[in-house]
Amino acid sequence: MDSYVLILAASSGKNLELAYRFRDSFNAEGMATEIVDLTTLHWPVYTPELDGNPDQEPDTVQLSDLILNSKALVVCAPEYNGVMPPALNNTIAWLSVQSDDFRRLFNNRTVLLATHSGGGGAHCLMAMRHQFSFLGSNVIGRTMNLNKSKPFSQETMNDLVSRVLQ
Ligand SMILES: Cc1cc2nc3c(=O)[nH]c(=O)nc-3n(C[C@H](O)[C@H](O)[C@H](O)COP(=O)(O)O)c2cc1C
Repeated sequence: MDSYVLILAASSGKNLELAYRFRDSFNAEGMATEIVDLTTLHWPVYTPELDGNPDQEPDTVQLSDLILNSKALVVCAPEYNGVMPPALNNTIAWLSVQSDDFRRLFNNRTVLLATHSGGGGAHCLMAMRHQFSFLGSNVIGRTMNLNKSKPFSQETMNDLVSRVLQ
């Protein structure tokens, strides 16, 4: 299909706002988007005990299909204790055990990383780059890194959007 960019927000404050800014900028270029606020999924924390238990496993089909049919992923996540927040890590953990191939949803998929964090945000970006690269994604070199002293730049946004669309 390849007809939309899927934007994942791993927090419902500034990072969801950033997700909406990405949506507006992709839409302005004629590219459709879907946004998923991962904090609204309410999936249980992944444990091997829940894995395979039909009464306790989350329903991952809708999000899996959204990822599989997307042209690219944009991930907007705040830094939590030097890494990505549990909402993102937990989502990836559940998605990775839904088939025999843990890379299935992310392998060879373009991923753009963005953060609005309290401090630097660089640790979160590095952690996400490490994780998505491990999953086989093509992680775009340039990122969006916002915090108190680093305001939003439409120029950076336009460049990032063009990298995803090229
Ligand atoms: C549990 C927790 C841990 C945090 N750890 C960090 C951190 O390591 N580095 C940082 O820059 N900000 C840290 N922050 C601040 C968040 O990154 C910041 O508040 C961010 O803007 C929250 O995003 P949101 O507005 O989308 O919820 C932390 C916040 C929380 C709640």
